[in-house]
Amino acid sequence: MTDKIIISPSILSADFANLEKDIKTVENAGADWIHIDVMDGHFVPNITIGVPVVKSIRKVTPLPLDVHLMIENPDKYIEPFAAAGADILTFHYEAVNNSQIIEIIKQIHSYGIKAGLSIKPKTNPDEIFKYLSEIDLLLIMTVEPGFGGQKFMNDCAEKIKIIKPNAPKNLIIQVDGGINDITGEICKNYGADSLVAGNYIYKSDNIEQAIKSLR
Ligand code: DX5
Ligand code: ZN
Repeated sequence: MTDKIIISPSILSADFANLEKDIKTVENAGADWIHIDVMDGHFVPNITIGVPVVKSIRKVTPLPLDVHLMIENPDKYIEPFAAAGADILTFHYEAVNNSQIIEIIKQIHSYGIKAGLSIKPKTNPDEIFKYLSEIDLLLIMTVEPGFGGQKFMNDCAEKIKIIKPNAPKNLIIQVDGGINDITGEICKNYGADSLVAGNYIYKSDNIEQAIKSLR
């Protein structure tokens, strides 16, 4: 969609005791968005960040907050996360009934923010084609959601090749999981518009260089 790749560092790999500092570091190093992984211990086995933390993050950065909801019943949390300052709210296809999807997308749009839909590694892209014209962002997981630092699964990234030619021009195709300079390049070649990276950016000795290497 964009001529410029959107880099969204995942703060899951940041130091939560120094979150403001770690957000400023990626902001000053050229990040485009801040990726915030919300996990509930039900949809995924891990528990991470909730509404109050997003609200606090909103106060310390002007960058768009790219909130990835890995939670059950996302419809119940759209309003609080929108009020907390999310700019993009992405929920999981697998977390809801198909009959709810359009309704949740509309709910997100009613707050004037971008709506994203995410698919887990085992989800067939054919299942979500019908929603592509309704959403702003499609997040293709290239690891099982739940934890940072896992190995990139290329067969998941290959879904981009199937989706891209049939997707609306404005759709942002984002990938998340195991992204580094090499796997990021693969995804860009497939047609990705946005890369999420946690470990690769935050564990790097030179964060500015790490972000540059993803462009
Ligand atoms: C995983 C999260 C990712 C995670 C990526 O469930 O959605 O955003 O932080 O971490 P890396 O880039 O380390 O695989
Ligand atoms: Zn994520």
